[in-house]
Amino acid sequence: MNAIIKKRSLGQFFTKNDFWLKDHILEFIKSTNTRIAFDPFAGGGDLLNVAQKIGFKKIKGLDIDKNLNWEQNDSLLSIPKIKNSITITNPPYLTNYSAKRKGIYKNVKQYFDVCSYDDIYQLAIEKCLKNDFGIMIIPETFINSRFPKNRLVSITIIEDQLFNDTENPVCVICFDNKNKTYDQIDVYKNDEQIGKLEYFEKMRRTPHKNIYIKFNAQKGQIALRAVDTTNPQKPISFMKPKEIDYDLADIKHSSRLITVIEVKADDQAIDKIIKYSNQMLFDFRKKTYDVLLSPFKGNKKNGERRRRLDYMTARAFLEDAYELAYPGSRLKLF
Ligand SMILES: C[S@@+](CC[C@H](N)C(=O)[O-])C[C@H]1O[C@@H](n2cnc3c(N)ncnc32)[C@H](O)[C@@H]1O
Repeated sequence: MNAIIKKRSLGQFFTKNDFWLKDHILEFIKSTNTRIAFDPFAGGGDLLNVAQKIGFKKIKGLDIDKNLNWEQNDSLLSIPKIKNSITITNPPYLTNYSAKRKGIYKNVKQYFDVCSYDDIYQLAIEKCLKNDFGIMIIPETFINSRFPKNRLVSITIIEDQLFNDTENPVCVICFDNKNKTYDQIDVYKNDEQIGKLEYFEKMRRTPHKNIYIKFNAQKGQIALRAVDTTNPQKPISFMKPKEIDYDLADIKHSSRLITVIEVKADDQAIDKIIKYSNQMLFDFRKKTYDVLLSPFKGNKKNGERRRRLDYMTARAFLEDAYELAYPGSRLKLF
């Protein structure tokens, strides 16, 4: 295997920086009273070095790559149960889709064959949960995934760029051995506790799909820049097609970042729909601290994470805005 293929197939991106270790995460580690720090995907050993710095006398690392001088183990297939340990790890990340796109699917097929996850980091979580306690650095998209979260104590979104060689947005999960309900699980953004997981689950928006709204329709009357630019003054927004700095003739069926939307409305109503949709989006972003919108690679110039508005959530705002522009329109449709 050549070096790039190996790096991609094994997800060999090492955690050189330690600003993921927020005070509340350190407190959690201490509260477990465990004596062994264990990394089943140990790589360069950076996380175990941090563990030693914070006082762990015993460490144990495993890795599939025999050149890394750990005991060799395929931790995506099984992880030993280690008494008195806390797992501290950053497992490999790789989606089924990107493995295929990069032509490395054959190297990881065996993992996708034994699970129904679409990213191998989720298989890694499943295996790590065999032990009682752990903290894991994983993709931020985890918060929007269907992976059962009952063993978690907290999820912490880390906005700073953690890796030197990839811009993958990440979060840190802490788990213990107790099953919990979502109102017992804390969500943090960097150092700030922003609410319980249950609150965020309730804030999710799903459309009713009872109003005609067509995305990627070249002749649509509403343009949407669905991704934040790096300029904080130019966030995700709905606007008139002529206001967007993009050639809308390039919009394709598969466009996900910029789109034009067709609705059945007159010019006056379109202005209102644009205004109300932007207001709702603004309010939603504020109330959810932005964590329900998908992270987009790279940060804004002010250090905040860029976000992408998925079209399901966009549709939910447009439907509500349409209802405000044409009161009673939803009822009339039934
Ligand atoms: C993202 S790196 C993280 C390394 C280290 N935990 C850190 O944060 O610096 C993932 C590591 O997992 C290893 N790895 C990939 N697939 C593995 C598998 N199936 N079993 C064990 N280790 C694996 C890779 O060789 C790599 O060293």
